[in-house]
Amino acid sequence: MTRLTRADLDNLPAYVPGRNLADLTRELGIAEAIKLASNEVPYGPLPGVPEAVADAMLQSHRYPDMGALELRDALAGRLGVPADHIVTGCGSVALAEILVKATCLPGDEIVYSWRSFEAYPIIAAGASVTSVRVPNTAEHGHDLQAMADAITERTRLVIVCNPNNPTGTSVRKAELDRFVEAVPSDVLIVLDEAYRELVTDPEVPDGLATYGDRHNVLVLRTMSKAWGLAGLRMGYLAAQPEVAAAIRKVLTPFSTSLVAQAAAIAALAQEDEVRRRCALVVAERDRVTEALRKIGADVPGSQANFVWLPLGDESAAFGKACESRGVIVRPFQGDGVRVTIGTPEENDAFLAAAEAALNG
Ligand SMILES: Cc1ncc(COP(=O)(O)O)c(C=O)c1O
Repeated sequence: MTRLTRADLDNLPAYVPGRNLADLTRELGIAEAIKLASNEVPYGPLPGVPEAVADAMLQSHRYPDMGALELRDALAGRLGVPADHIVTGCGSVALAEILVKATCLPGDEIVYSWRSFEAYPIIAAGASVTSVRVPNTAEHGHDLQAMADAITERTRLVIVCNPNNPTGTSVRKAELDRFVEAVPSDVLIVLDEAYRELVTDPEVPDGLATYGDRHNVLVLRTMSKAWGLAGLRMGYLAAQPEVAAAIRKVLTPFSTSLVAQAAAIAALAQEDEVRRRCALVVAERDRVTEALRKIGADVPGSQANFVWLPLGDESAAFGKACESRGVIVRPFQGDGVRVTIGTPEENDAFLAAAEAALNG
């Protein structure tokens, strides 16, 4: 048959979403399975969000405000940057795609740490851009010196995922300062801070507050995690206005939906509740980390809402063993398993499954 799609995509691993809950409950014949595979915060939509969505629905026959002005003003107020630094999109992963479109030509290079967010190689390949993967350190974190050394004259972007998905590790200010100084001024440094609201280590810098005034730094954030909008798709980036303006030119028109804009504005009014929820997640993150270490797992400290079990070739088997006990986690075969922090009850169910899988 005549080939209609690009041959170079044949070997590209597809993005793997966490396994479907309904499938597993059916397969196991149980009332309820638990999903700890997609890094959502488990406490439902924020107060006021469902009502804002319902109201916005009444206008859903109209196109949304393409510039998302009211939302950008609300974000600007919260972040302390002018609104023209901000671009919104349908999830920060979509913005990362757009960013590559705005900065890279086929054959250019993007440097990132590996293992890191599984969307990066897919986004690079989709734009015919070369991925330069710098191996994580033995402690599962970014090797910033090696990343700086990997930059060539073809490099357009270097991505620092802080905290890193899926290992939960983070880079601290002193090393990030050195890195930001070392990166050439014509390479854009992307700080992917999807889990920023969950960071408690005071040495892990807020990228926007610390480096936001530098012309070659861009910060990516999402409302999918702490802000509870994963299903509505809302992410944003902050960059210098000329970078933001170029990115806006290649945005998919109207891709920040009317409903998502309304939901995000309502969510931003709930900062205290977001803080309260994040504190609950952080307390559970620390409890789960301790408990896993006690049963022999070598879990690195996490600053996000998930933990990493570096189980190497045992990862898939561990994932299956958890599933057989009704808990869906996210194995990366050959490397490790990422487990999202859920409610205390969900985490207890996972810990029981993990103990049985590791020591049973
Ligand atoms: C590091 C990182 N960046 C970006 C995203 C994408 O978030 P979204 O597209 O839901 O905004 C995720 C989601 O898992 C992530 O872990």
